[in-house]
Amino acid sequence: MPAPKIIDHTYDVVVVGAGGAGLRATMGMGQAGFKTACITKVFPTRSHTVAAQGGIGASLGNMAEDNWRWHMYDTVKGSDWLGDQDAIEYMCREAVPAVHELEHFGVPFSRTPEGKIYQRPFGGHMSNFGEKPVQRACAAADRTGHAILHTLYQQCLKHQAEFFVEYFALDLMMDADGACRGVMAWNLDDGTLHRFRAHQVVLATGGYGRAYFSCTSAHTCTGDGHGMVARAGLPLQDMEFVQFHPTGIYGSGCLITEGARGEGGYLTNSAGERFMERYAPTAKDLASRDVVSRAMTVEIRDGRGVGKDHDHIYLHLEHLGAETLELRLPGISETSKIFAGVDVTREPIPVLPTVHYNMGGIPTNLHGEVLRPTTADPDATVPGLMAIGEAACVSVHGANRLGTNSLLDIVVFGRAAALRAQEAMKPGTPHKPLPKDAGELGRSRFERLRNANGTMSTADIRLAMQKTMQLDAAVFRTSSSLAAGVAKMAEVAGTLPQIKIGDRSMVWNSDLAEALELENLMDCALATITSAEARHESRGAHAHEDFPERDDATWMKHSLAWVEGGKVRLDYRPVHTHTLTDEIEYIKPQKRVY
Ligand code: FUM
Repeated sequence: MPAPKIIDHTYDVVVVGAGGAGLRATMGMGQAGFKTACITKVFPTRSHTVAAQGGIGASLGNMAEDNWRWHMYDTVKGSDWLGDQDAIEYMCREAVPAVHELEHFGVPFSRTPEGKIYQRPFGGHMSNFGEKPVQRACAAADRTGHAILHTLYQQCLKHQAEFFVEYFALDLMMDADGACRGVMAWNLDDGTLHRFRAHQVVLATGGYGRAYFSCTSAHTCTGDGHGMVARAGLPLQDMEFVQFHPTGIYGSGCLITEGARGEGGYLTNSAGERFMERYAPTAKDLASRDVVSRAMTVEIRDGRGVGKDHDHIYLHLEHLGAETLELRLPGISETSKIFAGVDVTREPIPVLPTVHYNMGGIPTNLHGEVLRPTTADPDATVPGLMAIGEAACVSVHGANRLGTNSLLDIVVFGRAAALRAQEAMKPGTPHKPLPKDAGELGRSRFERLRNANGTMSTADIRLAMQKTMQLDAAVFRTSSSLAAGVAKMAEVAGTLPQIKIGDRSMVWNSDLAEALELENLMDCALATITSAEARHESRGAHAHEDFPERDDATWMKHSLAWVEGGKVRLDYRPVHTHTLTDEIEYIKPQKRVY
């Protein structure tokens, strides 16, 4: 097979990924007059944001009094004090204008009888600094992500953004000074390679849920940005914090929105007991996700699971009535029918905690600029490179994200990236010549995998990785499970050179695409399990049974993981313990009860 043709492109800005974060950044860059390309491996409106259900968090106060300070307090507490409070303040303050902006762009939010945006309760969102649940999730029925994604795509088209659809980003183009100068991509349709030169590359590639066997994430969530960053010699941050959503459908993992509990749904064990009352007496079923997922796991481990194998839990919605279910939760009613065979008006849904979100990712500041932390400057940035959305770790979610704060994160920081670019550069600024070897990292990686002729299939290696993560980096972790996981993952990563690509053609070669994805996932899996093994405390989603308490004196710090040739090197950087403005004081660490 001849070497693929390389086609050159020049833009002010290239955004990689067309989920909500990528589209909000693309739109903002286009609006600011930048020549902007968005490259995406799936059609924009098929990006994983389309699956976000329950709502976007903002203290609009449409249903009862609310305040961005309460939202900030809940987010800091939800993060188990690992979130950076300056970034959290920024996000919670910007939430209200961000949602109004979405409304003006045309997002079809559900409405109250007075015509205001409808808001529902969600886990961990409380009024008056933790007193009682508040209705803060701005919802478009249970299809909020779908509504936002379609609206943002239309806005991007309005601002003349150019889309390169079904292009797979291979690697960053970094220069000798450590700046990012563009990105290499493979056009799945015709097999050509493309060298995108840009002053600013924005990674909006989403999470890496597919490193696990069972997750709510789309098959496309393969940590492609994480992989590119790792291969560029940059670290990944806080990767040990993986969120399990309490209500994935048992067996299929499909998401049943937390909004279902927001509308009054509740969980029961085999005795029919509403057990969350024991674990979270105030918030009950609306406690933070890590708390609910742990409670469900304990119930099952103690023999109180439901079903013939006593290995899951019931979510009840029957009492809400057909009319409410049709109005507020039509999507999950349909999903339950298709994936669990359940009529939600009559029977409970079988559910299980399921991998849902990565709090960790590519470290950035609150302008979306990627960090290259050093001991002298833990906040040093990489010129020309930004990351936003689930791919990034700002860090606003810390050790545990609150539901609805992911849709908020993507629009707030997608916009912040565009604002920062406007401060830093002018549209049409001439480009310096590219280094001679620009794009070589991506090209050679592509060639190596295209010609891979080993003895193992991508699917077999991926399954071994997913099973290891599922078993050893789970809701609860122990020193021995993590040590076993680190050893096993090294073994699995060691089989990557044995990969065999079945079909060597460059065009619509899904085997090759999956092998490229697998390399990215493997870096994420290695960083996750190694960072988890090293963290000797319990914080947020990292529940370590041999170290059951949070240890702020030693561990209130961000993990940094460099993945190089299948090996992981760890270091740490301090958590920001200051706010952005003097309108709110630093929220001091407290015991986290709901
Ligand atoms: O439960 C949900 O609707 C998911 C929302 C989120 O992860 O923010």
